[in-house]
Amino acid sequence: MAEEIYSPGLEGVIAGETAISTVTGGLSYRGYSIEDLARNGTFEEVAYLLLYCDLPNAQQLDQLRKRLSDAAQVPQPILNAVRDIPRGSSAMDILRSASSMLAHWDPDVNDNSREANLRKSERLLAQLPVVMAARYRLANGKEPVMPKTGRSLAENCLYMLFESDPTPGHIKAMDVSLILYAEHEFNASTFAARVIVSTLSDLHSGIAGAIGALKGPLHGGANEKVTDVLRSVGKKENAEKWVRGALARKEKIMGFGHRVYKDGDPRAVYLKELCGQLAKETGHEDLEGMAAVIERIVWEEKKLPPNLDWPSARLYEYLGLPVELYTPLFVLSRVSGWGAHVIEQLDNNRLIRPRARYTGPQRREWKPLAQR
Ligand code: COA
Repeated sequence: MAEEIYSPGLEGVIAGETAISTVTGGLSYRGYSIEDLARNGTFEEVAYLLLYCDLPNAQQLDQLRKRLSDAAQVPQPILNAVRDIPRGSSAMDILRSASSMLAHWDPDVNDNSREANLRKSERLLAQLPVVMAARYRLANGKEPVMPKTGRSLAENCLYMLFESDPTPGHIKAMDVSLILYAEHEFNASTFAARVIVSTLSDLHSGIAGAIGALKGPLHGGANEKVTDVLRSVGKKENAEKWVRGALARKEKIMGFGHRVYKDGDPRAVYLKELCGQLAKETGHEDLEGMAAVIERIVWEEKKLPPNLDWPSARLYEYLGLPVELYTPLFVLSRVSGWGAHVIEQLDNNRLIRPRARYTGPQRREWKPLAQR
């Protein structure tokens, strides 16, 4: 047997190959730097890049937008279920269930070909925002609002939630956050999706599993937990004492640190810039000031830089978004990356089945029930 190598949490382990993105030399999607994509692109162009391996030309982009518009029809039984699911259920659990239920109405459900998986990925990209917004409105005593044709996913998300037309600045901020959340190599949820489809299971199962993995506070759930930090600190004057106290108690400050980016998360840089702009527009300069102090103290004490979730939580607050939708918004975007990984895994599949180091008891004798 080959030499056994063990790395807790698979840290540093190369668990497969991918042509979709790399964190080496700063994050890039299919060769394009994240800064370039966020500053110049739109989420739809990025989703196309991830799924189809290259940027679209004008015609391909138009066609994608039309397909997404057509696919945004969510079957009525699913909207009924979204209405009936008990009140306390989280938006992440609703999306996980919806991605599973949507499979039953998907005409390609049993087709695992590349073409069918592209169609299924596009449908989920179009349908999940409708589900998320519908549930949010229903939970708040309002009827769902359907997306308008010819609008971007970012614009429609804001429109469906608030039933009013967002400003260009708000659309840009939402679009950039979707671009930055779209893809991130072998993170936990993507790896979960790849493990699932490596058994030759289907895309909807992979994405339902990925949503379950993303929900945890050490992964996607961190953007919601960042809000707890901001609320607990309360004001700039409290920041230094609060952070030093939390670190002395060995508490983790949500929104800081990263398994891969030990010198800083490149996604956080441009988003911080946008946050600053949006804070001015929406009168949230105080919160920006407080966040800057927290950043400085965490760096002084632990040399930990912020990750993407740190500015994201503030950006969403400035957009007037409810905290319970922060992680679901991450889902809407990451469906593009998950779809690309499912397709890549199946293009060159090998069952993902690692070994475990055994730490249980030595072999022992069976004891009849009466002797236990
Ligand atoms: N706040 C305080 N200390 C932190 C920290 C944080 N957010 N993140 C890491 N550390 C500390 C650890 O306690 C450890 O300190 P020690 O050496 O004194 O024991 C050291 O930094 C190394 O951290 P470690 O937990 O080994 O890093 P990791 O690679 O396992 O963890 C995360 C990566 C993301 C799980 C971790 O940084 C974390 O929990 N961050 C908060 C959650 C978050 O923002 N997640 C979103 C990720 S995009």
